[in-house]
Amino acid sequence: MKIAIDGPSGAGKSTMAKKLAAVLGITYLDTGAMYRAIGLKAYREGIATTQEDKLQRLLDNTEINIQYKDGIQKIVLDGEDVSLQIREHYVSKLASDFSAVPIVRLKLVEMQRALANKADCVLDGRDIGTYVLPDADIKFYLTASLEERTERRYAELTARGEKCDKEKIRQDISNRDYNDMHREFAPLKKAEDAIELDTTGLDIETVTSLMIKEIKKVQ
Ligand code: DC
Repeated sequence: MKIAIDGPSGAGKSTMAKKLAAVLGITYLDTGAMYRAIGLKAYREGIATTQEDKLQRLLDNTEINIQYKDGIQKIVLDGEDVSLQIREHYVSKLASDFSAVPIVRLKLVEMQRALANKADCVLDGRDIGTYVLPDADIKFYLTASLEERTERRYAELTARGEKCDKEKIRQDISNRDYNDMHREFAPLKKAEDAIELDTTGLDIETVTSLMIKEIKKVQ
C-alpha cells in the first residue's frame, strides 16, 4: 500500500501522515525534510540556487539518511542528526527555494522512490501524487485556510521556543505557497485522482477517520 499526501504548508500533511503510519503500521516518509536538509547544507556552504555546478557537487557529496527511532523519523545529513535544525523557520524558505532547482528534485525524487519501493508507506510532500508516486493506491490533497495554517505554524514554532511574528509567518507561508505552486518542475498541484480534504476547523481525530474511511475503500 502506497499513500500519497500533498498540499500547501501547514495543511496538516505531516501530522496526518504520522498518524496514518501509526494506525496502519506502515512507514512514514517526510519528503519535505529532505529538501530542508539540502537547503540547510547549501546555506551552510554559502551556495546559492543559481550556482548549478557547485550545487551539483554538493548533491554528489551529500549523504542523507532517514532513520527511525521509536517510530520517529530522524534526518541524518552527512552523519549529523539535523532533525531539529531543519525545523527552524529560516530553513523553510531555503527548502522551498532549493526545491525549485531541477537537479535537486531529480536526486531527492530518486531517493524517495527507492525508499517507497521497500515497504508499505505514506509519503507527504508537494508532488507525491503527481510525480513521485503517480501510481499510489490512494492520494490525498489536504488544504486549510491561510488563517488556520498561520495559527498552526505559529503554535508549533512558539511551542519550540522560537520567537516569531504572526504576520510574518502568514506572509512567509503565502510566499512559499506561491513559490511551490509556480515552479516549473513538478509544482504543487492536486493530482486529478486525489481526494481533496479541507481540514479547516477539523481536529486530528476527525481527519484521521475521514482518511481511514477512504483508505478502507481501496484496501
Ligand atoms: O513540507 P515542508 O514544509 O517541510 O517542505 C519544505 C519545502 O520543501 C516546501 O516549501 C517545498 C519543498 N518540497 C517539495 O518541493 N516537494 C516535496 N515533495 C516536499 C517538499
